[in-house]
Amino acid sequence: MGVHYGSNRAAAEETVATIEAAGGTVFALGVELGLPGDAGALWAAFDQHAEGLDILVNNAGIGTSKSFSEIGEAEYDRLFAVNAKAPFFLTQLGVDRLRDGGRVINVSTGLTHAAVMPELIAYSMTKGALDVFTGNLSKLLGARGITVNTVAPGIVDTDVNADWLRASDEAWAGAAAMSALGRVGTPADIADVVAFLASDNGRWVTGQWLDATGGSPA
Ligand SMILES: NC(=O)c1ccc[n+]([C@@H]2O[C@H](COP(=O)([O-])OP(=O)(O)OC[C@H]3O[C@@H](n4cnc5c(N)ncnc54)[C@H](OP(=O)(O)O)[C@@H]3O)[C@@H](O)[C@H]2O)c1
Repeated sequence: MGVHYGSNRAAAEETVATIEAAGGTVFALGVELGLPGDAGALWAAFDQHAEGLDILVNNAGIGTSKSFSEIGEAEYDRLFAVNAKAPFFLTQLGVDRLRDGGRVINVSTGLTHAAVMPELIAYSMTKGALDVFTGNLSKLLGARGITVNTVAPGIVDTDVNADWLRASDEAWAGAAAMSALGRVGTPADIADVVAFLASDNGRWVTGQWLDATGGSPA
């Protein structure tokens, strides 16, 4: 198994150690996405460790705090480069390494189906592109038995949200209240949906957008 990271090698090594402790064989790959040639560089690094793969999870992504009126071209371009262009070319260049019957799982956001955080307009647009990618790619790869799906999280307690989500009890309560289940999502809530799609149980699901928001507004 390959664990990809951009800048946080320590976190990747922690994940590697967890997988190894559970009996898995795993390696870490550090490649920055959002730069020209990023996908080719990642696969070149991958090929040093393995010959092919069963499952590709396009999870890496960035957000922005810049609103509609504030965001400039450079940040807009970087958002699209990391969130939309990188998964496109990672998949295009990786598809011959993916075994028949394999999986592509793209991590999007509930915000592509609900305009409840309009301040995140540019970010949501990048994920909208990813959603369109999922549907079309499922048709292109279906003949090989490869399923392609999107998992769409709501608010999850991860590093990207740490600054505001954990800043006050009010922020935490407001985020929890967005979910019908009344709590903030955890990484495991999302990982379990990804694991379902990756497993044999998910074999008859393709081209879908799976809501993993805990019932946030739609
Ligand atoms: N958290 C939420 O509330 C939420 C909600 C909806 C959707 N999502 C989506 O869920 C996915 C995971 O996000 P997260 O919440 O886990 O955020 P996170 O804690 O900030 O993690 C982002 C991940 O993407 C990698 N990454 C970011 N920019 C990269 C780059 N330029 N090159 C290579 N890798 C890069 C990071 O690697 P390094 O740390 O090594 O740089 C990290 O593994 C993202 O696609 C995000 O849009 C999150």
